[in-house]
Amino acid sequence: MIMESTKSRSWVVAMMQLVALLLMEASSCSSISTTTKPPATATATATATEAASTVAAPQIGTGFCQMFVTSSAYSCSEYSVETDDGYLLAVQRIDAVTPPVATAKGPAFLYHGIMEGGEIWVMNPGQESLAFTLASAGYQVWIGNTRSSKYTFGHITFQRQDKEFWSWCWDDLVSKDLPTMLQFVHSSTQQPVYYVGYSQGAMTAFAAFSQGPLVNLVAKAAMLSPVSHVNHITSPVALAACWMFADQILLAAGLFEFNLNSEAGFKFLDIVCTSPQVDCTNDLLSQITGPNCCLNETRMPFYDLYGFQSTSMQNLAQMAQMVRTGGFGKYDFGFWGNLVAYQSLFPPQYDLSAIPASLPMLLAHGGNDTLSDPQDVANLISVLQGDPVIVYVPDYAHGDFVIGSNAGTLVYQHILAFFET
Ligand SMILES: *[C@@H]1O[C@H](CO)[C@@H](O)[C@H](O)[C@H]1NC(C)=O
Ligand SMILES: *[C@@H]1O[C@H](CO)[C@@H](O)[C@H](O)[C@H]1NC(C)=O
Repeated sequence: MIMESTKSRSWVVAMMQLVALLLMEASSCSSISTTTKPPATATATATATEAASTVAAPQIGTGFCQMFVTSSAYSCSEYSVETDDGYLLAVQRIDAVTPPVATAKGPAFLYHGIMEGGEIWVMNPGQESLAFTLASAGYQVWIGNTRSSKYTFGHITFQRQDKEFWSWCWDDLVSKDLPTMLQFVHSSTQQPVYYVGYSQGAMTAFAAFSQGPLVNLVAKAAMLSPVSHVNHITSPVALAACWMFADQILLAAGLFEFNLNSEAGFKFLDIVCTSPQVDCTNDLLSQITGPNCCLNETRMPFYDLYGFQSTSMQNLAQMAQMVRTGGFGKYDFGFWGNLVAYQSLFPPQYDLSAIPASLPMLLAHGGNDTLSDPQDVANLISVLQGDPVIVYVPDYAHGDFVIGSNAGTLVYQHILAFFET
């Protein structure tokens, strides 16, 4: 009897392992890309000069420098770096040319938030933009662009209209995009990198820095509107979307690319606008970010031209999962899928307390930010081992930190001081 049950149990285990193997591909956010994994290229570790010659024929990534860096006081160049799943990420480098900057302060890497690209750092003129502020202060400014950014150079195999192009979630930004770009900047400059992350760009760094060696490339980190555990977000649109399971509805409808100005976006708004908490007749931006105090109204049409880019449905779904569970974990595939992907019923969590205390960190957050809620930021601070410098701006909402017209004095000056001491 005993032998028999052991035998049948081992048979069941063997079958489960087989099924698990078969399902493994389907249970990874980047499943499709990994099955067509291209031969590794050395682009991401090339030096700046080498990388300059590898800039791919621009498709969508055309013209970041021409569009946003029009002042002759700055030089701007673009690089293409390839992730190991075949995305050609755009990285721009901006340096101050005039007046000549005497002291080179090292590389600064700026990483944007969800549904935007690297342009968010250069939308305002001069000292109202963090990229120009840092360049004028003597930093080599490197701007990152996630795989979904308009300014990336696409994918080696897939087009943006392909479903496969959008088959990834936030975990892939943690494990692929950020390391690829940060290693590129580090190996191009051979210096520790000053990191600036905004919103999802901060969130991604928290997760990546908690996982080991990448953090060793970083000198200091400034996180703006930091997001990690999101138990307390108050954004009416985000909350309605999460609790009405808009992500699940859209995924089930077979949509894979999410853009507020597309079919998926309209369906999304159809769902969230039925919530009494959301006022869809009102300014949509404030309904998402909180009431931004300090945007220059005259420039709103310009911001609107570039605002709200696409992201993947799976990325959005992962954010929604975190809101619903209060966790800070990997993609939740459901019990069976989790068993297959992670050998546990629940997705593994990123451990914020594993970020080394030795990493100097600044957290800048706002009193009216409905996505990076003060209570969530307080929880984040309590979990971190280090003792971050806190910059609190009571009137600021989510958008003010990157395009607020007074962010130069209220935020960027603090970042400069933090980097230099
Ligand atoms: C707002 O932006 C416009 C256009 O860039 C500019 O002319 C104006 O001076 C700005 N206003 C303020 C208060 O910064
Ligand atoms: C938020 O914004 C309102 C005005 O919209 C302001 O009165 C308030 O002081 C701000 N800060 C906080 C922490 O609520």
